[in-house]
Amino acid sequence: MNEQVVLDVKDLHVSLPSMRGVVGAVNGISMQITEGKVLGLVGESGCGKSITCLSLLGLTKEEGWVIAGVAKIQGKNLLTLGPEEIRKIRGKEIAIIMQNPLTAFNPLMTIEQHFLETIGSHLLLSKKEGRNLAGRYLEYTGLSQPSKLLKQYPFQLSGGMIQRVMIAIALALEPKVLIADEPTTSLDVTVQRQILCQLARLKEKVRTGILLVSHDLGVIAQMADEVAVMYCGCIVERAPVERLFNQPLHPYTKALMASKPKMQKKTLQAIGGQAPSLLNFDGGCPFFERCHEKSCCCSHYKQELVQYDDKHWVGCAKFAVKQRMLYYEPA
Ligand SMILES: Nc1ncnc2c1ncn2[C@@H]1O[C@H](COP(=O)(O)OP(=O)(O)O)[C@@H](O)[C@H]1O
Ligand SMILES: [Mg+2]
Repeated sequence: MNEQVVLDVKDLHVSLPSMRGVVGAVNGISMQITEGKVLGLVGESGCGKSITCLSLLGLTKEEGWVIAGVAKIQGKNLLTLGPEEIRKIRGKEIAIIMQNPLTAFNPLMTIEQHFLETIGSHLLLSKKEGRNLAGRYLEYTGLSQPSKLLKQYPFQLSGGMIQRVMIAIALALEPKVLIADEPTTSLDVTVQRQILCQLARLKEKVRTGILLVSHDLGVIAQMADEVAVMYCGCIVERAPVERLFNQPLHPYTKALMASKPKMQKKTLQAIGGQAPSLLNFDGGCPFFERCHEKSCCCSHYKQELVQYDDKHWVGCAKFAVKQRMLYYEPA
């Protein structure tokens, strides 16, 4: 089957001003989301996953923030669209499940009003049809008594319930692209399973292309077709899921895999050291200080992904040097 790219992100940069300088939160990432496939995005806390997600939907336009690059959806660059144009695209073309859903709800509107406002701006439905659709999707996410719930206000629901309402709204529109930022982190395992089943249904039936952000490698292993590993605002490795888990190449990915809890392992293996400050990021290898495999060529390395084989990309000097020795004449 022909694989169609539904969201094509190229060289995305997001920098934020701070008292001490410019923080490079996202430093030139590229990724493609394909119809009917899940791209998993993993990386430790603070590496820029949420900022990446929010930037794609134009939700980070705070004063002083600089967003550069291209994020194409059906020929339009999401990063340059005006507020009106992006509002038309959000929901049906591209939807988001945010990591902190409470901030996305208006405390003065009931759940039903949230549903009807979002659905109503994209689908031609009567109030009754909208209500039925809302009820159905609330049930899909494991919420009981949807008719009672629709009359309630966000503050009357628990964090897990709000998370599920947000998921139900995102799923109801059956978007072409879904950005799911830690969608199941605050949910218990049985509810998590229901949500993951719904995401899988969307992928299979509607052929939605999904960007699934999670720090849970088990969720990624179960759901993703391909995985991108993020570190300090850079993607350091990208490969099909099985390949990434069985043959990680980047020292950070290897360390991440080694820190996975295992039944037979008594102590967890932490990654030594700390992620560097992203203040005035210089474009070099961000894992340099913590890396056990570094060599003399690493200090001059400019962070970029090199192709290891047709589906596996890695951003490590070791592989870049090998590639250049194979393909380039030294100057
Ligand atoms: N609103 C904000 N203002 C300033 N800095 C922020 C803001 N949101 C996030 N950051 C910083 O940007 C970096 C990336 O954050 P985030 O994308 O939330 O990480 P992740 O989702 O990977 O845990 C972090 O260093 C964080 O402190
Ligand atoms: Mg986050």
